[in-house]
Amino acid sequence: MVYMDMRERHLEGFSETLLRCNHLYRPNSDSIALLNTVNSRRKIEIFDYGRSADAFTRAFGMRNSLKCLRALTSLGAAIRRYETVCDLGCGSGAFSLAFAYLADNPDLKLQGLDASETQLRLAGELMSAAGLPGSFAFERRNLPAQIGYLPDLTISSYWFCENEHVIADPVLFDLMAGREMLIVDYEKIIDRIAACLPRGFQVLARHSALVEIPSVLTDFVAQEWASVYGLHISRTAG
Ligand SMILES: C[S@@+](CC[C@H](N)C(=O)[O-])C[C@H]1O[C@@H](n2cnc3c(N)ncnc32)[C@H](O)[C@@H]1O
Repeated sequence: MVYMDMRERHLEGFSETLLRCNHLYRPNSDSIALLNTVNSRRKIEIFDYGRSADAFTRAFGMRNSLKCLRALTSLGAAIRRYETVCDLGCGSGAFSLAFAYLADNPDLKLQGLDASETQLRLAGELMSAAGLPGSFAFERRNLPAQIGYLPDLTISSYWFCENEHVIADPVLFDLMAGREMLIVDYEKIIDRIAACLPRGFQVLARHSALVEIPSVLTDFVAQEWASVYGLHISRTAG
C-alpha cells in the first residue's frame, strides 16, 4: 500500500516534469501520422531518425519515459547509488529523463549515446527544460563501441530491438553493459536477452507491468494504458 502511494506520487511529480517539456512532446500532424502508421503495422519498427526524430519524440517520447519510470521504480531508494549512468541509444532522452527525475541526485553523471544528431539535440533540449539535478552529456556514437569506462548502471530502452545482433554476441554485449544494466524493450526482446545472457552476467529482476497514463498527459499520449517489460542484470563477481 505504502509502495503504491509512493509510485503514485512519483507519477504525479514526473507528470509535472514532462509537462515542463511539453513543447517537445506536443503532437503535430507528422507525429499523428507516424503513430497511425506504427499502430496499423503492429510490428517492431526501425525508424529513420534523420527524418523523423521530432515526430518520434512527439509520438512516443512521453509514453516511453513513463514506461522507463515504471521500470526504474523497482530500484527503490538504491537508485541514488548509481552515480555514473550511461543511456545506450538514448534517443531524445526518455530513459535519461526518468532516471534523473527519480534519482534526484546532484552527483549524478549521466551520459547518453546515440547515432542520431537530431535525437541528441532533442535530448539536450529536454534535459535543459526539465531542470533536474545532475550533469548530462549527450554524444554521438555508433554503437556498439568502446565507452571508455564501466558505468555503475547502463540503461537502455528500445535500443536492443534495433540491434538484435548484440544480444547473441557475448563480446559486443559485454562491451555495452555497465556493472549493472536495466533494459526496457519489447517482451520478445527481453525474453531473448534473458535467454542469451552470456557467462559473467546474472538476472537480478524481471518486470512486466501496465502503466496507467495520468489523465493530465492524455493530450500527449494517445492511450490510457501502456505495457512495460524490463530486465535488470548485473555482472557476477569474479
Ligand atoms: C526506438 S529509439 C529509442 C530511443 C529512446 N531510448 C526511447 O526509449 O525513446 C532507438 C534509438 O537508438 C538509436 N540507435 C539505434 N541503433 C543505434 C546504433 N547502432 N548506434 C547508436 N544509436 C543507435 C536510434 O538513433 C534511436 O535514437
